[in-house]
Amino acid sequence: MNTKGIILAGGSGTRLYPMTAIFSKQLQVVYDKPMIYYPLALLMLTGIKEILIISTPKDTPNFETLLGDGSQWGITIEYKVQDQPKGIAEAFVYGAEFIGDSQVVLVLGDNLFYGKLDFLRNAIKNNKGGTIFGYRVNNPGEYGVVEFGKNYEVISIEEKPKTPKSNFAIPGLYVFDNKVIEISKNLKPSLRGELEITDVQKEYLANGLLNVELIGRGIAWLDTGTPETLMEASSFIHSIEKRQGTKIACLEEVALNQEFISKEKFIEIVSKLPNSSYKEYCQKIISD
Ligand code: TTP
Repeated sequence: MNTKGIILAGGSGTRLYPMTAIFSKQLQVVYDKPMIYYPLALLMLTGIKEILIISTPKDTPNFETLLGDGSQWGITIEYKVQDQPKGIAEAFVYGAEFIGDSQVVLVLGDNLFYGKLDFLRNAIKNNKGGTIFGYRVNNPGEYGVVEFGKNYEVISIEEKPKTPKSNFAIPGLYVFDNKVIEISKNLKPSLRGELEITDVQKEYLANGLLNVELIGRGIAWLDTGTPETLMEASSFIHSIEKRQGTKIACLEEVALNQEFISKEKFIEIVSKLPNSSYKEYCQKIISD
């Protein structure tokens, strides 16, 4: 089954104002690279090579300038403009043509994952219908929340509940089969005027086709929506990169390791990078 990837990178980013007055949230810096590098690396690391980035009319050209058509990393990146931030599930409406008859992984451009990604690779391989994830957090009420029964069967899904029925939040990372296009096109906007991703999940749940996989503490899931969480994410990436002497989400390195590009191509693209610690890191990979 072919799998395509969508990064939803629009929205208004109001909570990060004034940082987002000029550049969108997903172009902000997480320690040493733009935020969107992290979800892009995530998709590439699970083997996905066809990627659609959906953003605002103002920001889409900036993403195109930053990332191009992806050929430098052996992938294809397409772009689509979402006129207004009318909900996460709109990704499947705007992305319908791109998805075609494939299954799709949607990742929100401000969600950052670190750790062994087998949970996602397995979900992509085994998905029948929809697969979402559950991650224990201190503040579930700020997210979609999943309620489980005795045998971890899903009982309910609620968007930003005032009194959450569990501590398991649903990260902005979803795997859906092709029916997601039809389901999203038929959704009615919620009271806040958005096509809600939780309504998509509820539809799969009602049809017995929703799988919720719990992600354990071995994975870090960070959200970067507020000044504080953005700083925490930067500090997290900094700590690991400094300690290990490696980089997280260096797209050139990911492309090489995934064999999306040859060693010759890697050397060629690295030679064109501006002089920076990022370039030095890539050059060190060659000499190692
Ligand atoms: P949110 O964090 O819910 O919203 P936001 O990014 O607009 O920020 P704020 O609440 O501070 O105004 O969005 C989650 C992610 O989904 C984020 O990456 C933006 C993206 N998004 C879209 O691209 N289009 C949409 O219609 C919505 C609702 C979100």
